Amino acid sequence: MEIELVLEQINKKFDDGSLILEDINLRLQQGTKLSVLGPSGSGKTTLLRLIAGLENPDSGTILFKGQPMNDIPPHKRNFGLMFQEFALFPHLNVFNNIAFGLKMKGKSKTEINSQVNEMLLLTGLDGFQTRHIDDLSGGERQRVALARTLAPQPRLLMLDEPLSSLDRVLRKRLLIDLTDIISRLNIITIFVTHDHEEAFATGNMVIVMNQGRIEQKGCPGELVQTPKNQWVKEFLGL
Ligand SMILES: Nc1ncnc2c1ncn2[C@@H]1O[C@H](COP(=O)(O)OP(=O)(O)O)[C@@H](O)[C@H]1O
Ligand SMILES: [Mg+2]
Repeated sequence: MEIELVLEQINKKFDDGSLILEDINLRLQQGTKLSVLGPSGSGKTTLLRLIAGLENPDSGTILFKGQPMNDIPPHKRNFGLMFQEFALFPHLNVFNNIAFGLKMKGKSKTEINSQVNEMLLLTGLDGFQTRHIDDLSGGERQRVALARTLAPQPRLLMLDEPLSSLDRVLRKRLLIDLTDIISRLNIITIFVTHDHEEAFATGNMVIVMNQGRIEQKGCPGELVQTPKNQWVKEFLGL
């Protein structure tokens, strides 16, 4: 299958000089479900922000379908990024939250209606069109956020710890829902988490990050069977 996303020798330092990301290399095939697993501060969010174009690497190249992304601004990359806090618009109803990106793109009313309805079905929110964000449960909000991110039909989807603000019981259930929705998308999905159970449930490929470096890369089975070193072993709770 075609290699779609390539990260080549990416390095990123912040002003204080601490090295945040060091020599990141990745090649992902179309449809790959990648989990980025690592403790807090290991550089996971920074990696997503670089792919999204919200930060620039100091050196290295990001390619999508062979095209260098370095000089392409975030809104022209057509990548979807969903943050931990969802960042929904509280004054808009469910329909208008999901429609937001499509309106920004100047889509017609007919297109918006049909796309939003498709997203409502995909995320199990049919019938919620006119509900207000304040009246939704945590799980429902998360679905709205996902529907909003997917509505403009991104070429790549990134989720930054999408479950971490929810309580344990809800998290387990939503992980199943989310994994199911993601598995139906034929685009690369990058799921960031500090929880190895979440990483293994959502990803067919996992990178384990530690202090800005990729410590190990592999499918869940490989990581569990042959953790590369003591640190990975301990981090995976083995
Ligand atoms: N804009 C920034 N300026 C300086 N340091 C930053 C900035 N963003 C992140 N960092 C630092 O980079 C490290 C990695 O952060 P981050 O990518 O958010 O990690 P994670 O998402 O894995 O918790 C942290 O030590 C953080 O303090
Ligand atoms: Mg983070």
